Amino acid sequence: MRHLIPARQNRPDKDVIFALNGEATRRKNAGESIVNATIGSLMNDDGSLAILDTVAGLLKQVPREEWAAYAPIGGTPQYLEAVLADTFAGHDALKKAATAVATPGGTGALRHALMNYLESGQKMLTPNFYWGPYMTLADEHERGLETFNMFSKDGLLDVAALDAKLDAQLKSQGRVLLFLNDPCNNPTGYSMRGSEWKQVVERLLAHSERGPITLLVDMAYFLYGTANDPRAFMAELTPLLGRVGLLFAWSGSKSFTHYGLRIGALIACEPDEKERNATQAALAFSCRGTWSNCTRGGLFAVTKLLTDSSLKAQCDGEREKLKRLLTARVDAFNALARPKGLDYPRYEGGFFVTVFTPDAEARATKMKELGVYVVPQKGAVRVALCSVGSADVPRLVDSLVA
Ligand SMILES: Cc1ncc(COP(=O)(O)O)c(C=O)c1O
Repeated sequence: MRHLIPARQNRPDKDVIFALNGEATRRKNAGESIVNATIGSLMNDDGSLAILDTVAGLLKQVPREEWAAYAPIGGTPQYLEAVLADTFAGHDALKKAATAVATPGGTGALRHALMNYLESGQKMLTPNFYWGPYMTLADEHERGLETFNMFSKDGLLDVAALDAKLDAQLKSQGRVLLFLNDPCNNPTGYSMRGSEWKQVVERLLAHSERGPITLLVDMAYFLYGTANDPRAFMAELTPLLGRVGLLFAWSGSKSFTHYGLRIGALIACEPDEKERNATQAALAFSCRGTWSNCTRGGLFAVTKLLTDSSLKAQCDGEREKLKRLLTARVDAFNALARPKGLDYPRYEGGFFVTVFTPDAEARATKMKELGVYVVPQKGAVRVALCSVGSADVPRLVDSLVA
């Protein structure tokens, strides 16, 4: 007799990315020379995990009571205030309208958005190049996922395709939940310009009277963009307040290089106080109904890192070094890949780049034979430059054209 319900009896038993990483690691441990561009963690050039020393040091000083005790269901007030103050520095209108709950990583924030802003069976909307777990999360929570074409012929965000899907979803399901992962989009590496944000906002506002539309900005790589001011795009979002729902999936995983600490937040901007309180109640209820609360010690540490000016400055300095490490790889990739005719979006920084290829599976298989691991997707392969040492970039590029 099968005890699993039918819908869960044929779940894939492996996450594709983790499986490829496992295979690459096995071959490497067996003595082969392997370039592993599958996993989304930033590695030093010697292959070790890049870790901000200030964060690692502080975690050791967190009092044991902070590790042992429960946190409040929605997160400690100090943590929530620190996240909001940091996220919206210089953007008071957004800060004033914001409420938040702590979540285990950005993933938890995405989960809460799916459950609170879509009805069961409805579909979230996102570009056709998206982080694979969006689909897993939607499926697990009995929601669907629909895409719009990400890039127009000129290589910019295809705003017309977005507009058409907004229209279609409002007709078919009466509401929209749009996920945009920017800057340093996973998997493409793309970061939108202010002018592209402006157009997105225009389109959202144009449809906003027809039904509830909610934009979620997935900020997982927020601090790795190359814009002088990583918060500049927020000025474009302010006109949405009160007309289009505005959510931010905030993650400490990459910003503080502690992926396993599972610290994140879902931030919701809602200028109407009554509605904001209802939002806070709904999100806190979701916390209680899933993971109860997050790790108090992690919330405590991240609060300190965001609010103690000298710790913050130290972290920012160490992160700058990591960004330089990454930028050197991006520059090396661009210098070699463009002249060889590889087709990929504007790539200025960030953990990944996507190289378009019609035969993604065949290309990834061929690359494996050459000892190089990437993640095949529909019409492209995802290259995690974050985990490739600078010295291996030429071999990586060669294998993409071999
Ligand atoms: C696009 C994107 N969103 C969200 C996340 C969530 O990360 P975490 O749950 O570790 O904060 C990731 C992690 O890889 C990601 O790539």
